[in-house]
Amino acid sequence: MEFAKIENCLKQIREKTGFIPKAAVILGSGLGGFTDTIKVEAEIPYSKIKGFPVSTVPGHEGKFIFGYVGDTPVAAMQGRVHYYEGYDMHDVVLPIRLLKLLGAEVLVITNAAGGMADGMKAGDLMVIRDHISSFVPSPLRGANIDEIGTRFPDMSEVYDRALSDKINEIAKSIGCDIKNGVYIQTAGPQYETPAEIKMFKALGADAVGMSTACDAIAARHAGMRVCGISCITNLAAGIAKHELTHAEVMETTKKTEDVFCRLLTEFIGGNNF
Ligand code: HPA
Repeated sequence: MEFAKIENCLKQIREKTGFIPKAAVILGSGLGGFTDTIKVEAEIPYSKIKGFPVSTVPGHEGKFIFGYVGDTPVAAMQGRVHYYEGYDMHDVVLPIRLLKLLGAEVLVITNAAGGMADGMKAGDLMVIRDHISSFVPSPLRGANIDEIGTRFPDMSEVYDRALSDKINEIAKSIGCDIKNGVYIQTAGPQYETPAEIKMFKALGADAVGMSTACDAIAARHAGMRVCGISCITNLAAGIAKHELTHAEVMETTKKTEDVFCRLLTEFIGGNNF
């Protein structure tokens, strides 16, 4: 039944474009500028795909952009839904499974996150080396979709080491002092308390956000290679000396957009997959 829903979305896209992406990229809010580097072949607003989860925030419905970055065929997701909007985890990760069925072998995830590792500061970028998803429901709960993956998938290397190393290499070459660390996903939408951040830090997390781990799990279940980059938009609660606001998150994203876009363009457009 769930697989039928995904196949139905696939069918609707295939009525509009035969484009086969090699890589898929989820653009965190504020990374829209990356789409300027895509030689666009087709665009499909999510609202035109029946059964596809659409953001509850007006004006943020989002769209798929299919096209080329360098010679790489890419499917970019501009906008995505979050668990805190009220969607079931299965719907939150539906786009990932759909991207796999469209042909994507690699998933590049970007997001905004609060930083808690020592020495981290707002404006840093962080390559996600591992994650903690224990505080949100698994997207794989319920009947397994055998057509997509196995019941008990291995998660010992969710974030592909070779791809993550490559991102570090490119970052270095463009003079970006990129960090590496563990991302922890919360359900949100409220930011964390200082006590929660202390706990997360003790558990081994370096950055916290409200997305990504569920997507990465669904992608690994589907056999995709995964990598992720966080924009550290703020220091996490209790470490920051001020209240956390969405405005600060958006402001920092804007400031890092140029270097983030350059890094992504060189990574995705270079022959790295
Ligand atoms: N916490 C959770 N999610 C976030 C944060 C944060 O501090 N900053 C950006 N997304």
